[in-house]
Amino acid sequence: MKVFIGKMFRMDALILYAHPNPTSFNNSIKEATVEKLTSMGKSFQVKNLYSENFYPVLTGEELQDIFVNSKVKEEIKKEQEMIKQSKTIIVIHPVWWSGMPAILKGYIDRVFTYGFAYKEQNGEIVGLLGDKKVLIINTFGADEGELNSFGIKDCFEKIYYSIYGFCGIKEVKSKFLFAVPYVSREDRIKMLEDIKRFVEENV
Ligand SMILES: Cc1cc2nc3c(=O)[nH]c(=O)nc-3n(C[C@H](O)[C@H](O)[C@H](O)COP(=O)(O)O)c2cc1C
Repeated sequence: MKVFIGKMFRMDALILYAHPNPTSFNNSIKEATVEKLTSMGKSFQVKNLYSENFYPVLTGEELQDIFVNSKVKEEIKKEQEMIKQSKTIIVIHPVWWSGMPAILKGYIDRVFTYGFAYKEQNGEIVGLLGDKKVLIINTFGADEGELNSFGIKDCFEKIYYSIYGFCGIKEVKSKFLFAVPYVSREDRIKMLEDIKRFVEENV
């Protein structure tokens, strides 16, 4: 891990990972990403939401604290500090019900708060995370043709830009892996190689 004396420490990457099963293909994707970042000599941290048992519900009280009292819980401040320090956020998760697993959505609800991820200035929204980029790696059960036929693939890109772009992040790139439960072992190996290339070219 690199240390910068006298400057704020900046990590090359944060892996934000959401899959409950340690034998899943998503876990292999996470491990391939870790392996590639390590071989590139990058500094990084892994945030494993399920294994850390992240509590994902933004309660009424917390919402009131954020917007009315400008107060953020200590546990959330730690997450925000980790994001602040990271140049690239690599988000890895399966697609569930055409979205992200609830634990990850809850992480975004609770951590990407007003005053940290965005603010209002002269009646306009200003994103505060503009010094970062986001790479999203998703697995789907459906195949690419099926998703394209009703335009869902484009929707995903738009939704991701509407989340991370809202926070000022201009570079939001995604890598989608299709029909994951049905492809051969050889195809999965190729997918992992593809992920390593994606990481190498973008971190
Ligand atoms: C609760 C749940 C909801 C799912 N919803 C979708 C979906 O909306 N679209 C899709 O293509 N696949 C869907 N799937 C399939 C998963 O995306 C697929 O099994 C997973 O990405 C494969 O990766 P894994 O082996 O790491 O879990 C769903 C699976 C589960 C368990």
